[in-house]
Amino acid sequence: MNKKATTAAKPKTVKINQPKIKKNVRTKKSYGIKMGKRIYEGFNAERKVKNRKEKEKKRLGYEFFTEPFDKTENPLPKKYLNKIICEDSLKVLKKLPDNSIDLVFTSPPYNFGLDYGDHNDTNDWLSYFETLFNIFDECIRVAKHGGRIIINIQPLFSDYIPAHHLISNHFFNKGLIWKGEILWEKNNYNCKYTAWGSWKSPSSPYLKYTWEFLEVFCKGNLKKAGKKEDIDIDAEEFKSWVNAKWSIAPERGMKEHGHPAMFPERLVERVLKLFTFKGDIVLDPFNGAGTTTLVSHKLERNYLGLDISKDYCKTAEKRIKDQSL
Ligand SMILES: C[S@@+](CC[C@H](N)C(=O)[O-])C[C@H]1O[C@@H](n2cnc3c(N)ncnc32)[C@H](O)[C@@H]1O
Repeated sequence: MNKKATTAAKPKTVKINQPKIKKNVRTKKSYGIKMGKRIYEGFNAERKVKNRKEKEKKRLGYEFFTEPFDKTENPLPKKYLNKIICEDSLKVLKKLPDNSIDLVFTSPPYNFGLDYGDHNDTNDWLSYFETLFNIFDECIRVAKHGGRIIINIQPLFSDYIPAHHLISNHFFNKGLIWKGEILWEKNNYNCKYTAWGSWKSPSSPYLKYTWEFLEVFCKGNLKKAGKKEDIDIDAEEFKSWVNAKWSIAPERGMKEHGHPAMFPERLVERVLKLFTFKGDIVLDPFNGAGTTTLVSHKLERNYLGLDISKDYCKTAEKRIKDQSL
């Protein structure tokens, strides 16, 4: 008898292959699998908070820190609607009416020393934050009641300056509501982290990061008014994107567009669909090669993009034109 025939004659056993994670979970006892998801079984027994409402009251909540912003809405003049403007954003912002923008989504220069052409990206940290906060204060003023401000930032870890915390602190002190923080996982393990700090010694190990932050703030209200028919996020997107760790690869077309620090379109798409309605007005005061304005246009939002560089503004305009062809 050949080997093949012997194997075929063996009685069939039904073997259920448990994924490895489930096995580990079972041996740990405190975890279990419910509807395909890993849950901590002891959670309800051990962590139940009694008198939750009473305790919430005692803590005073976010309302204690927020400002009672004016609710009047003002229209954005036509000359700013669906425009890319090449000027210092502080100057332009000062001309905009209060309460006229639904979402500010931006990534400011990080002060890393990148080559931006028309912007000097190495300043002492005090002047850097002063310039940034003047622009952000104008963003707060022009945002509508219920409008959102979302800042993408990566701290310069090698300078040990927690820019994401300092920026969040600024908005919080101005009375905005901190809605949350999204971790943009770029998985760029190949980036130029060559430093280990103190190699194999606890004296000063250097921590490495493959992600950036999106700090999300609301002006006056956590809820934003909008019509049902202007919602374009579907159930699967919503379920997935409210998990605040977004794995999105960095933009690949930076060379092509001649800009060193662009958003990937997928990042902007998520932000717009999750935080705005169709027809809303989106402002990017550091618009660069115009990814925010391009995706706003694609997703039927109105936009205003500001950048100090003529070349970047030209690119931003061209990308929209090419898309409309
Ligand atoms: C990180 S980049 C933004 C890139 C953009 N998110 C994109 O997808 O292309 C920051 C931009 O801010 C611009 N910038 C710096 N200072 C500015 C200012 N005072 N007013 C307007 N734009 C400024 C720079 O020219 C640069 O393009």
